[in-house]
Amino acid sequence: MAAIVLVGAQWGDEGKGKATDILGGRVDYVVKPNGGNNAGHTVVVGDSKYELKLLPAGVLSPSATPVIGNGVVVNLEALFEEIDGLEARGADTSKLRISANAHLVAPYHQILDRVTERFLGKRAIGTTGRGIGPTYADKVSRVGIRAQDILDESILRQKIEAALVQKNQTLVKLYNRNAIDPDAMFDYFMSYAERLKPMIVDSVTMLNNALDEGKHVLMEGGQATMLDVDHGTYPFVTSSNPTSGGACVGAGIGPTRITSSLGIIKAYTTRVGAGPFPTELFDKWGEYLQTVGGEVGVNTGRKRRCGWYDSVLARYASQVNGFTDLFVTKLDVLTGIGEIPICVAYDVDGVRHDTMPMTQSEFHHAVPIYETMPAWDEDITGCRTFEDLPGKAQDYINRLEELSGCRISYIGVGPGRDQTIVLHDVLDN
Ligand code: GDP
Ligand code: IMO
Ligand code: MG
Repeated sequence: MAAIVLVGAQWGDEGKGKATDILGGRVDYVVKPNGGNNAGHTVVVGDSKYELKLLPAGVLSPSATPVIGNGVVVNLEALFEEIDGLEARGADTSKLRISANAHLVAPYHQILDRVTERFLGKRAIGTTGRGIGPTYADKVSRVGIRAQDILDESILRQKIEAALVQKNQTLVKLYNRNAIDPDAMFDYFMSYAERLKPMIVDSVTMLNNALDEGKHVLMEGGQATMLDVDHGTYPFVTSSNPTSGGACVGAGIGPTRITSSLGIIKAYTTRVGAGPFPTELFDKWGEYLQTVGGEVGVNTGRKRRCGWYDSVLARYASQVNGFTDLFVTKLDVLTGIGEIPICVAYDVDGVRHDTMPMTQSEFHHAVPIYETMPAWDEDITGCRTFEDLPGKAQDYINRLEELSGCRISYIGVGPGRDQTIVLHDVLDN
Protein backbone atom coordinates (compact mmCIF):
# COMPACT_ATOMS: atom_id res chain seq x y z
CA MET A 1 0.00 0.00 0.00
CA ALA A 2 1.32 3.42 -0.92
CA ALA A 3 -0.41 6.78 -0.53
CA ILE A 4 1.78 9.35 -2.24
CA VAL A 5 1.14 13.07 -2.13
CA LEU A 6 2.73 15.00 -4.99
CA VAL A 7 2.78 18.79 -4.64
CA GLY A 8 4.48 21.80 -6.16
CA ALA A 9 7.14 23.34 -3.93
CA GLN A 10 7.33 26.78 -5.55
CA TRP A 11 4.72 28.89 -7.42
CA GLY A 12 3.45 26.19 -9.77
CA ASP A 13 4.49 24.72 -13.12
CA GLU A 14 7.34 22.75 -11.55
CA GLY A 15 6.62 19.70 -13.72
CA LYS A 16 3.95 17.98 -11.63
CA GLY A 17 2.31 16.61 -14.77
CA LYS A 18 5.49 14.85 -15.87
CA ALA A 19 6.16 13.51 -12.37
CA THR A 20 2.60 12.18 -12.14
CA ASP A 21 2.96 10.54 -15.51
CA ILE A 22 6.11 8.72 -14.41
CA LEU A 23 4.42 7.34 -11.28
CA GLY A 24 0.95 6.98 -12.82
CA GLY A 25 1.74 3.74 -14.59
CA ARG A 26 2.53 2.07 -11.26
CA VAL A 27 -0.36 3.22 -9.08
CA ASP A 28 -4.02 2.18 -9.07
CA TYR A 29 -5.60 5.60 -8.56
CA VAL A 30 -4.51 9.14 -9.37
CA VAL A 31 -6.67 11.64 -7.51
CA LYS A 32 -6.65 15.40 -7.93
CA PRO A 33 -7.29 16.91 -4.47
CA ASN A 34 -7.48 20.68 -5.15
CA GLY A 35 -7.83 23.42 -7.72
CA GLY A 36 -9.74 23.29 -10.97
CA ASN A 37 -9.14 24.32 -14.54
CA ASN A 38 -6.71 26.99 -13.37
CA ALA A 39 -3.99 24.30 -13.54
CA GLY A 40 -1.98 23.44 -16.62
CA HIS A 41 0.00 20.19 -16.49
CA THR A 42 2.11 19.12 -19.45
CA VAL A 43 2.86 15.50 -20.21
CA VAL A 44 5.15 14.55 -23.08
CA VAL A 45 4.83 10.96 -24.31
CA GLY A 46 7.13 10.25 -27.24
CA ASP A 47 6.24 12.82 -29.89
CA SER A 48 2.88 13.63 -28.33
CA LYS A 49 2.32 16.51 -25.94
CA TYR A 50 -0.76 16.66 -23.72
CA GLU A 51 -1.84 19.68 -21.70
CA LEU A 52 -4.23 18.84 -18.86
CA LYS A 53 -6.12 21.59 -17.09
CA LEU A 54 -8.89 20.12 -14.99
CA LEU A 55 -8.24 16.40 -15.27
CA PRO A 56 -5.46 14.76 -13.26
CA ALA A 57 -2.49 13.99 -15.49
CA GLY A 58 -2.98 10.38 -14.35
CA VAL A 59 -5.78 10.14 -16.92
CA LEU A 60 -2.99 9.32 -19.39
CA SER A 61 -1.92 6.24 -17.41
CA PRO A 62 -4.11 3.43 -18.79
CA SER A 63 -3.79 1.23 -15.69
CA ALA A 64 -4.77 3.95 -13.17
CA THR A 65 -8.27 5.17 -12.33
CA PRO A 66 -8.32 8.97 -12.46
CA VAL A 67 -10.40 10.66 -9.78
CA ILE A 68 -11.48 14.27 -9.28
CA GLY A 69 -11.50 14.61 -5.50
CA ASN A 70 -13.91 16.39 -3.18
CA GLY A 71 -11.50 19.34 -2.85
CA VAL A 72 -11.62 20.21 -6.56
CA VAL A 73 -13.86 22.83 -8.19
CA VAL A 74 -15.23 21.51 -11.47
CA ASN A 75 -16.22 23.57 -14.49
CA LEU A 76 -18.46 21.14 -16.41
CA GLU A 77 -17.99 22.84 -19.75
CA ALA A 78 -14.20 22.62 -19.35
CA LEU A 79 -14.47 19.04 -18.09
CA PHE A 80 -16.29 17.69 -21.13
CA GLU A 81 -14.25 19.76 -23.54
CA GLU A 82 -11.09 18.22 -22.09
CA ILE A 83 -12.54 14.71 -22.10
CA ASP A 84 -13.66 15.07 -25.73
CA GLY A 85 -10.26 16.47 -26.73
CA LEU A 86 -8.42 13.55 -25.15
CA GLU A 87 -10.80 10.96 -26.58
CA ALA A 88 -10.32 12.49 -30.04
CA ARG A 89 -6.59 11.85 -29.59
CA GLY A 90 -7.17 8.21 -28.68
CA ALA A 91 -6.94 8.44 -24.87
CA ASP A 92 -9.41 6.41 -22.82
CA THR A 93 -11.12 8.55 -20.18
CA SER A 94 -13.90 6.06 -19.40
CA LYS A 95 -12.55 5.28 -15.94
CA LEU A 96 -12.73 8.90 -14.75
CA ARG A 97 -14.66 9.32 -11.51
CA ILE A 98 -15.79 12.52 -9.75
CA SER A 99 -16.43 12.95 -6.04
CA ALA A 100 -20.07 13.61 -5.17
CA ASN A 101 -18.79 16.38 -2.89
CA ALA A 102 -16.75 18.26 -5.51
CA HIS A 103 -18.06 21.78 -6.05
CA LEU A 104 -19.15 23.04 -9.45
CA VAL A 105 -17.98 26.27 -11.05
CA ALA A 106 -20.91 28.30 -12.39
CA PRO A 107 -20.76 30.93 -15.13
CA TYR A 108 -21.41 33.60 -12.48
CA HIS A 109 -18.21 32.57 -10.66
CA GLN A 110 -16.23 33.36 -13.78
CA ILE A 111 -17.96 36.73 -14.17
CA LEU A 112 -17.19 37.55 -10.54
CA ASP A 113 -13.55 36.46 -10.88
CA ARG A 114 -12.98 38.86 -13.76
CA VAL A 115 -14.93 41.76 -12.35
CA THR A 116 -13.32 41.59 -8.89
CA GLU A 117 -9.88 41.54 -10.52
CA ARG A 118 -10.83 44.64 -12.48
CA PHE A 119 -12.01 46.39 -9.32
CA LEU A 120 -8.73 45.55 -7.56
CA GLY A 121 -6.95 47.63 -10.20
CA LYS A 122 -3.19 47.64 -9.62
CA ARG A 123 -3.67 45.35 -6.64
CA ALA A 124 -5.08 42.63 -8.93
CA ILE A 125 -3.87 39.10 -8.21
CA GLY A 126 -3.52 38.11 -11.85
CA THR A 127 -5.85 35.13 -11.51
CA THR A 128 -6.47 32.75 -14.37
CA GLY A 129 -10.02 34.16 -14.64
CA ARG A 130 -11.51 30.69 -14.36
CA GLY A 131 -13.81 31.49 -11.43
CA ILE A 132 -11.74 29.49 -8.94
CA GLY A 133 -11.72 32.02 -6.07
CA PRO A 134 -15.46 32.80 -6.18
CA THR A 135 -16.33 29.07 -6.31
CA TYR A 136 -14.21 28.31 -3.23
CA ALA A 137 -15.69 31.40 -1.55
CA ASP A 138 -19.19 29.99 -2.12
CA LYS A 139 -18.06 26.61 -0.76
CA VAL A 140 -16.86 28.19 2.46
CA SER A 141 -19.93 30.46 2.61
CA ARG A 142 -22.08 27.33 2.26
CA VAL A 143 -23.88 28.46 -0.87
CA GLY A 144 -21.98 26.26 -3.34
CA ILE A 145 -23.39 23.75 -5.84
CA ARG A 146 -21.92 20.25 -5.63
CA ALA A 147 -21.70 17.43 -8.17
CA GLN A 148 -24.25 15.40 -6.17
CA ASP A 149 -26.84 18.18 -6.54
CA ILE A 150 -27.21 17.12 -10.18
CA LEU A 151 -28.74 13.88 -8.87
CA ASP A 152 -31.68 15.71 -7.27
CA GLU A 153 -33.34 18.31 -9.48
CA SER A 154 -35.39 19.84 -6.70
CA ILE A 155 -32.33 20.33 -4.49
CA LEU A 156 -30.37 21.74 -7.42
CA ARG A 157 -33.09 24.33 -8.06
CA GLN A 158 -33.19 25.33 -4.39
CA LYS A 159 -29.43 25.67 -4.18
CA ILE A 160 -29.21 27.78 -7.32
CA GLU A 161 -31.95 30.07 -6.02
CA ALA A 162 -30.26 30.39 -2.63
CA ALA A 163 -26.91 31.20 -4.23
CA LEU A 164 -28.37 33.76 -6.61
CA VAL A 165 -30.29 35.79 -4.02
CA GLN A 166 -27.10 37.42 -2.82
CA LYS A 167 -25.10 36.95 -6.02
CA ASN A 168 -27.55 38.93 -8.14
CA GLN A 169 -27.54 41.82 -5.67
CA THR A 170 -23.75 41.90 -5.91
CA LEU A 171 -23.68 41.63 -9.68
CA VAL A 172 -26.35 44.24 -10.34
CA LYS A 173 -25.90 46.76 -7.53
CA LEU A 174 -22.17 46.59 -6.94
CA TYR A 175 -20.72 45.63 -10.30
CA ASN A 176 -23.39 46.95 -12.67
CA ARG A 177 -23.81 43.59 -14.42
CA ASN A 178 -26.91 41.72 -15.55
CA ALA A 179 -28.72 39.51 -13.05
CA ILE A 180 -28.46 35.76 -13.60
CA ASP A 181 -31.69 33.90 -14.32
CA PRO A 182 -32.04 30.88 -11.98
CA ASP A 183 -33.86 28.87 -14.67
CA ALA A 184 -31.05 29.45 -17.14
CA MET A 185 -28.56 28.28 -14.49
CA PHE A 186 -30.62 25.18 -13.80
CA ASP A 187 -30.69 24.38 -17.53
CA TYR A 188 -26.95 24.99 -17.74
CA PHE A 189 -26.12 22.43 -15.07
CA MET A 190 -28.73 19.91 -16.23
CA SER A 191 -27.44 20.05 -19.80
CA TYR A 192 -24.43 18.09 -18.50
CA ALA A 193 -26.40 15.78 -16.20
CA GLU A 194 -26.59 12.68 -18.39
CA ARG A 195 -22.85 12.60 -18.98
CA LEU A 196 -21.95 13.53 -15.42
CA LYS A 197 -24.20 11.17 -13.44
CA PRO A 198 -22.36 7.90 -14.19
CA MET A 199 -19.06 9.46 -13.08
CA ILE A 200 -20.22 10.58 -9.64
CA VAL A 201 -18.93 8.39 -6.81
CA ASP A 202 -18.27 8.32 -3.08
CA SER A 203 -14.58 8.86 -3.76
CA VAL A 204 -13.55 8.84 -0.09
CA THR A 205 -14.86 5.31 0.49
CA MET A 206 -13.51 4.18 -2.88
CA LEU A 207 -9.97 5.45 -2.21
CA ASN A 208 -9.80 4.28 1.41
CA ASN A 209 -11.09 0.81 0.44
CA ALA A 210 -8.41 0.68 -2.23
CA LEU A 211 -5.74 1.49 0.37
CA ASP A 212 -7.21 -1.19 2.69
CA GLU A 213 -6.75 -3.67 -0.15
CA GLY A 214 -3.07 -2.74 -0.44
CA LYS A 215 -3.47 -0.67 -3.60
CA HIS A 216 -1.47 2.46 -4.45
CA VAL A 217 -3.01 5.94 -4.55
CA LEU A 218 -1.27 9.04 -5.89
CA MET A 219 -2.63 12.46 -4.94
CA GLU A 220 -1.67 14.87 -7.71
CA GLY A 221 -1.77 18.40 -6.34
CA GLY A 222 -2.49 21.36 -8.58
CA GLN A 223 -0.80 24.75 -8.04
CA ALA A 224 1.88 24.85 -5.35
CA THR A 225 2.99 25.62 -1.81
CA MET A 226 3.62 29.33 -2.34
CA LEU A 227 0.14 29.67 -3.88
CA ASP A 228 -1.50 28.04 -0.83
CA VAL A 229 -4.16 30.28 0.70
CA ASP A 230 -2.72 29.63 4.20
CA HIS A 231 0.97 29.09 3.57
CA GLY A 232 1.68 31.02 0.38
CA THR A 233 2.30 34.66 -0.44
CA TYR A 234 -1.19 35.82 0.57
CA PRO A 235 -3.10 37.55 -0.99
CA PHE A 236 -1.22 36.61 -4.18
CA VAL A 237 -2.31 32.99 -3.94
CA THR A 238 -4.99 30.67 -5.21
CA SER A 239 -8.04 29.86 -3.09
CA SER A 240 -7.24 26.25 -2.13
CA ASN A 241 -4.61 24.43 -0.04
CA PRO A 242 -2.20 22.91 -2.56
CA THR A 243 0.02 21.51 0.22
CA SER A 244 0.23 17.94 1.51
CA GLY A 245 -2.22 18.58 4.35
CA GLY A 246 -4.62 20.05 1.82
CA ALA A 247 -4.27 16.92 -0.29
CA CYS A 248 -5.43 14.80 2.67
CA VAL A 249 -8.52 16.98 3.00
CA GLY A 250 -9.14 17.22 -0.73
CA ALA A 251 -8.99 13.48 -1.25
CA GLY A 252 -10.39 12.36 2.12
CA ILE A 253 -7.31 10.31 3.00
CA GLY A 254 -6.08 10.60 6.57
CA PRO A 255 -2.53 11.86 7.26
CA THR A 256 -1.55 8.61 9.00
CA ARG A 257 -1.96 6.77 5.68
CA ILE A 258 0.46 8.95 3.72
CA THR A 259 3.63 7.03 2.85
CA SER A 260 5.40 9.73 0.80
CA SER A 261 5.22 13.46 0.39
CA LEU A 262 6.95 14.27 -2.87
CA GLY A 263 7.81 17.90 -3.64
CA ILE A 264 8.28 18.90 -7.26
CA ILE A 265 10.77 21.75 -7.61
CA LYS A 266 12.47 23.40 -10.57
CA ALA A 267 16.25 23.80 -10.62
CA TYR A 268 15.40 27.52 -10.79
CA THR A 269 12.16 29.37 -9.98
CA THR A 270 9.18 30.70 -11.94
CA ARG A 271 5.92 32.43 -11.14
CA VAL A 272 2.84 33.46 -13.16
CA GLY A 273 0.62 36.30 -11.98
CA ALA A 274 1.33 39.06 -9.46
CA GLY A 275 3.06 38.92 -6.06
CA PRO A 276 6.49 38.98 -4.44
CA PHE A 277 9.29 36.85 -5.89
CA PRO A 278 12.69 37.58 -4.26
CA THR A 279 14.95 35.86 -6.80
CA GLU A 280 13.13 37.23 -9.86
CA LEU A 281 15.50 38.33 -12.63
CA PHE A 282 15.01 41.40 -14.76
CA ASP A 283 18.25 41.02 -16.72
CA LYS A 284 19.31 38.86 -19.67
CA TRP A 285 19.31 35.74 -17.46
CA GLY A 286 15.61 36.12 -16.72
CA GLU A 287 14.99 36.26 -20.43
CA TYR A 288 17.34 33.32 -20.95
CA LEU A 289 15.50 31.08 -18.46
CA GLN A 290 12.16 32.16 -19.92
CA THR A 291 13.21 31.34 -23.48
CA VAL A 292 15.37 28.25 -23.00
CA GLY A 293 13.06 26.88 -20.32
CA GLY A 294 10.01 27.48 -22.54
CA GLU A 295 8.39 29.28 -19.61
CA VAL A 296 4.98 30.14 -20.98
CA GLY A 297 1.83 29.36 -18.96
CA VAL A 298 -0.10 26.34 -20.25
CA ASN A 299 -3.43 27.75 -19.14
CA THR A 300 -3.37 31.43 -19.99
CA GLY A 301 -0.40 31.70 -22.35
CA ARG A 302 1.24 34.30 -20.08
CA LYS A 303 5.05 34.46 -19.95
CA ARG A 304 6.30 33.12 -16.63
CA ARG A 305 8.48 35.37 -14.47
CA CYS A 306 11.85 33.64 -13.92
CA GLY A 307 14.56 33.66 -11.25
CA TRP A 308 17.24 31.58 -9.56
CA TYR A 309 16.71 28.67 -7.16
CA ASP A 310 15.54 29.86 -3.77
CA SER A 311 16.58 27.48 -1.01
CA VAL A 312 14.83 29.51 1.73
CA LEU A 313 11.62 28.77 -0.10
CA ALA A 314 12.62 25.11 -0.62
CA ARG A 315 13.31 24.64 3.11
CA TYR A 316 9.99 26.29 3.93
CA ALA A 317 8.13 24.03 1.48
CA SER A 318 9.91 20.95 2.90
CA GLN A 319 8.72 21.94 6.35
CA VAL A 320 5.13 22.83 5.47
CA ASN A 321 4.64 19.67 3.41
CA GLY A 322 6.79 17.30 5.45
CA PHE A 323 8.53 16.27 2.23
CA THR A 324 10.07 12.82 2.21
CA ASP A 325 11.50 13.32 -1.29
CA LEU A 326 12.16 16.02 -3.86
CA PHE A 327 11.94 15.80 -7.65
CA VAL A 328 14.21 18.49 -9.15
CA THR A 329 13.08 19.26 -12.68
CA LYS A 330 14.59 21.16 -15.62
CA LEU A 331 18.23 20.77 -14.63
CA ASP A 332 18.99 20.66 -18.36
CA VAL A 333 17.89 24.30 -18.74
CA LEU A 334 20.93 25.43 -16.69
CA THR A 335 23.47 23.79 -19.03
CA GLY A 336 26.08 26.17 -20.39
CA ILE A 337 25.21 29.27 -18.39
CA GLY A 338 28.65 29.70 -16.78
CA GLU A 339 27.77 30.33 -13.17
CA ILE A 340 24.59 29.46 -11.28
CA PRO A 341 23.53 31.64 -8.34
CA ILE A 342 21.60 29.89 -5.53
CA CYS A 343 19.72 31.95 -2.98
CA VAL A 344 20.81 30.71 0.46
CA ALA A 345 19.18 33.37 2.68
CA TYR A 346 17.45 36.75 2.52
CA ASP A 347 18.59 40.15 3.62
CA VAL A 348 15.55 41.96 4.98
CA ASP A 349 16.28 45.58 5.84
CA GLY A 350 19.80 44.66 6.94
CA VAL A 351 18.86 41.51 8.88
CA ARG A 352 19.78 38.04 7.58
CA HIS A 353 16.90 35.55 7.39
CA ASP A 354 17.67 31.86 6.85
CA THR A 355 13.98 31.02 7.11
CA MET A 356 10.84 32.59 5.68
CA PRO A 357 10.22 35.97 7.29
CA MET A 358 7.07 36.13 9.41
CA THR A 359 5.31 38.99 7.66
CA GLN A 360 4.36 39.77 4.10
CA SER A 361 6.00 43.21 4.33
CA GLU A 362 9.32 41.58 5.23
CA PHE A 363 8.96 39.11 2.37
CA HIS A 364 8.34 42.01 -0.03
CA HIS A 365 11.64 43.54 1.15
CA ALA A 366 13.62 40.27 0.97
CA VAL A 367 16.81 40.63 -1.06
CA PRO A 368 18.44 37.30 -1.94
CA ILE A 369 21.88 36.44 -0.58
CA TYR A 370 23.49 34.30 -3.24
CA GLU A 371 26.30 31.81 -3.46
CA THR A 372 27.37 30.72 -6.92
CA MET A 373 28.36 27.39 -8.38
CA PRO A 374 29.98 26.69 -11.73
CA ALA A 375 27.67 25.31 -14.42
CA TRP A 376 28.54 22.48 -16.81
CA ASP A 377 28.68 22.67 -20.60
CA GLU A 378 27.90 19.08 -21.52
CA ASP A 379 24.45 18.16 -22.86
CA ILE A 380 22.77 16.26 -20.02
CA THR A 381 19.46 15.43 -21.72
CA GLY A 382 20.63 11.86 -22.37
CA CYS A 383 21.85 11.20 -18.80
CA ARG A 384 19.94 8.41 -17.05
CA THR A 385 22.01 7.86 -13.88
CA PHE A 386 23.54 10.28 -11.39
CA GLU A 387 26.98 9.10 -12.50
CA ASP A 388 26.16 10.06 -16.11
CA LEU A 389 25.86 13.70 -15.01
CA PRO A 390 28.97 15.91 -15.34
CA GLY A 391 30.73 16.51 -11.99
CA LYS A 392 29.56 20.13 -11.81
CA ALA A 393 25.91 19.10 -12.28
CA GLN A 394 26.35 16.50 -9.53
CA ASP A 395 27.83 19.20 -7.28
CA TYR A 396 24.88 21.52 -7.98
CA ILE A 397 22.36 18.80 -7.09
CA ASN A 398 24.32 17.86 -3.95
CA ARG A 399 24.35 21.50 -2.85
CA LEU A 400 20.60 21.87 -3.48
CA GLU A 401 20.03 18.78 -1.36
CA GLU A 402 22.13 20.20 1.50
CA LEU A 403 20.23 23.48 1.36
CA SER A 404 16.68 22.28 0.78
CA GLY A 405 15.99 20.17 3.85
CA CYS A 406 15.07 17.02 1.96
CA ARG A 407 16.71 14.29 -0.07
CA ILE A 408 16.56 14.58 -3.85
CA SER A 409 15.13 11.39 -5.30
CA TYR A 410 14.43 12.33 -8.92
CA ILE A 411 16.17 14.66 -11.39
CA GLY A 412 14.54 15.85 -14.62
CA VAL A 413 16.86 16.35 -17.59
CA GLY A 414 14.22 16.97 -20.26
CA PRO A 415 10.45 17.02 -20.75
CA GLY A 416 10.18 13.41 -21.94
CA ARG A 417 8.90 10.57 -19.77
CA ASP A 418 12.27 8.81 -19.92
CA GLN A 419 14.37 11.94 -19.31
CA THR A 420 14.53 11.33 -15.58
CA ILE A 421 17.22 10.14 -13.22
CA VAL A 422 15.79 8.04 -10.38
CA LEU A 423 17.91 7.98 -7.21
CA HIS A 424 15.20 6.65 -4.96
CA ASP A 425 11.73 5.31 -5.76
CA VAL A 426 8.91 6.73 -3.59
CA LEU A 427 7.05 3.43 -3.94
CA ASP A 428 9.81 1.95 -1.76
CA ASN A 429 9.09 4.36 1.13
P1 GDP B 1 2.99 21.52 -13.85
O1 GDP B 1 1.90 22.53 -13.86
O2 GDP B 1 3.71 21.45 -12.55
O3 GDP B 1 2.53 20.16 -14.32
O4 GDP B 1 4.06 22.02 -14.91
P2 GDP B 1 3.79 22.61 -16.39
O5 GDP B 1 3.43 21.48 -17.29
O6 GDP B 1 2.88 23.77 -16.32
O7 GDP B 1 5.21 23.20 -16.74
C1 GDP B 1 6.36 22.42 -16.72
C2 GDP B 1 7.01 22.43 -18.10
O8 GDP B 1 8.30 21.90 -18.01
C3 GDP B 1 6.29 21.57 -19.14
O9 GDP B 1 6.42 22.18 -20.39
C4 GDP B 1 7.06 20.26 -19.10
O10 GDP B 1 6.98 19.53 -20.31
C5 GDP B 1 8.45 20.76 -18.87
N1 GDP B 1 9.36 19.86 -18.11
C6 GDP B 1 9.08 19.06 -17.04
N2 GDP B 1 10.22 18.48 -16.57
C7 GDP B 1 11.22 18.93 -17.36
C8 GDP B 1 12.64 18.75 -17.37
O11 GDP B 1 13.21 18.05 -16.54
N3 GDP B 1 13.34 19.41 -18.34
C9 GDP B 1 12.75 20.22 -19.27
N4 GDP B 1 13.52 20.84 -20.18
N5 GDP B 1 11.41 20.43 -19.29
C10 GDP B 1 10.67 19.82 -18.34
P1 IMO C 1 -0.27 24.45 -12.01
O1 IMO C 1 -1.09 23.35 -11.42
C1 IMO C 1 0.97 28.63 -11.87
C2 IMO C 1 -1.82 31.45 -10.02
C3 IMO C 1 -2.41 32.51 -10.94
C4 IMO C 1 -2.58 33.66 -9.96
C5 IMO C 1 -2.99 32.94 -8.67
C6 IMO C 1 -4.50 32.91 -8.43
O2 IMO C 1 -0.16 24.40 -13.50
O3 IMO C 1 1.04 24.61 -11.32
P2 IMO C 1 -6.51 31.55 -9.52
O4 IMO C 1 -7.04 31.54 -10.92
O5 IMO C 1 -6.08 30.21 -9.03
O6 IMO C 1 -7.43 32.23 -8.55
O7 IMO C 1 -5.20 32.48 -9.59
O8 IMO C 1 -2.52 31.61 -8.78
N1 IMO C 1 -2.00 30.06 -10.46
C7 IMO C 1 -1.03 29.31 -11.01
N2 IMO C 1 0.24 29.63 -11.35
N3 IMO C 1 0.53 27.36 -12.06
C8 IMO C 1 -0.74 27.03 -11.69
O9 IMO C 1 -1.19 25.76 -11.74
C9 IMO C 1 -1.60 28.03 -11.19
N4 IMO C 1 -2.88 28.05 -10.77
C10 IMO C 1 -3.11 29.30 -10.30
O10 IMO C 1 -1.53 32.83 -11.99
O11 IMO C 1 -1.34 34.27 -9.72
MG1 MG D 1 1.29 24.21 -14.88
